[in-house]
Amino acid sequence: MSRVTVPRGTFDILPRDAARRAALEAAARELLEPAGYGRIETPTFEATELFSRTVGEATDIVQKEMYSFTDDGGRSLTLRPEGTAPVCRAYVEHGMHKLAAPVRLYYLSSFFRAERPQAGRYRQFWQLGIEALGSEDPAVDAETIVLLAALLRRLGAGETRLRLSSLASPQTRADYREELGEYLRAHASELAPAVRGRIELNPLRAFDSDDPATRAVMSGAPRLIDRLEPADADHFAAVRELLERAGVPHELDPTLVRGLDYYTRTVFEFTSDALGAQSGVGGGGRYDGLVEMLGGPPTPGVGWAAGVERMLMAAGEDATPARPLDLFVAHDGARADAFATVAAARERGLAAQMELAGRSLKGQHKQAERLGARYMATLDGGEDVRLRDLRSGAEETIARTALLDRVAGGA
Ligand code: HAM
Repeated sequence: MSRVTVPRGTFDILPRDAARRAALEAAARELLEPAGYGRIETPTFEATELFSRTVGEATDIVQKEMYSFTDDGGRSLTLRPEGTAPVCRAYVEHGMHKLAAPVRLYYLSSFFRAERPQAGRYRQFWQLGIEALGSEDPAVDAETIVLLAALLRRLGAGETRLRLSSLASPQTRADYREELGEYLRAHASELAPAVRGRIELNPLRAFDSDDPATRAVMSGAPRLIDRLEPADADHFAAVRELLERAGVPHELDPTLVRGLDYYTRTVFEFTSDALGAQSGVGGGGRYDGLVEMLGGPPTPGVGWAAGVERMLMAAGEDATPARPLDLFVAHDGARADAFATVAAARERGLAAQMELAGRSLKGQHKQAERLGARYMATLDGGEDVRLRDLRSGAEETIARTALLDRVAGGA
């Protein structure tokens, strides 16, 4: 029969990968919880409208990357392509605006986008994300950015670049879009057809183009960063100042475009050269209108999400060692004794395994070494056991009743 394989763009997480992911999760928890972030998890699917309203009708995500389906009740549901809108929905739904601001939340979940798969780009991928709601203080923007920088450093993610920009307020942005649209229409004949076709829908995307002629046009295009209102400009300057104070280097990149429409003011992205084409490790920004778009009270917010697969790729292959085995129980016809010994060892918190594949005594010794066990005990049904320290090679005979004390003392 033909084999059934994993769907295109998805992957299995095998035990070795799971260990690295668990280490990443632990590092995230140890960094974020002391900073006041509490874990939140939302459903894997949501009302489609949640994303079309916030991520934006004109974005690639909503236009072509959502896995949507209609349920028995005729409701359109979508596998979540991102986490910010769901967290804001939950914030409104649970009246979290009554909590002391800022409300700090983090998540580590899988997301779904029907993108063309390639290295670092999947159709189901994991994100670690944080959202801080209820404060427009530039220190909150800076705090979130500093936390991502710290996390990447702790994970050993190597050289990363931080690019930063401001998208201003929705009104300034709307005026700017008009201005940019006019500029693009005036240069329409020089633009790549795909860019030309998007002038009305999403003129900002023109900055993303790889086409040389388009890039030449864009180098002379008006920039949003030069159109900021004083309050937005001051906010942005304060974020940059705080990043400098925290020793987090960054580059101003007025062409930084994020693939989601809900952003206001600060936007940023960390990239890593270790990643190739899909160089974005994590990104985010401020979204001061998002909660209101979902029927909640006016609530500023800022956050980021970082791709788990991309962070692990940037960190390279130095795999987190699995927990070392304290005791391997070999046996020569004393299966039940070995079984009981392993159960008792595990009760005491030791990492223990027994022979289960019918190996010869010699083969069992090899297996213990393969597993990296500290000790191997050989049970033959008698009152005594032979205990071998696999690190030093020393061997001794001790009473079976004294075995676990001995291993616990030496492990
Ligand atoms: P995003 O830039 O769309 O932002 O995604 C954040 C990160 O998720 C990317 O930098 C990348 O590492 C990872 N990622 C995205 N798509 C894929 C994919 N197809 N395969 C593998 N990894 C991927 C957001 O999702 C926003 N919700 C971030 C945010 C939070 N903004 C404010 N708060």
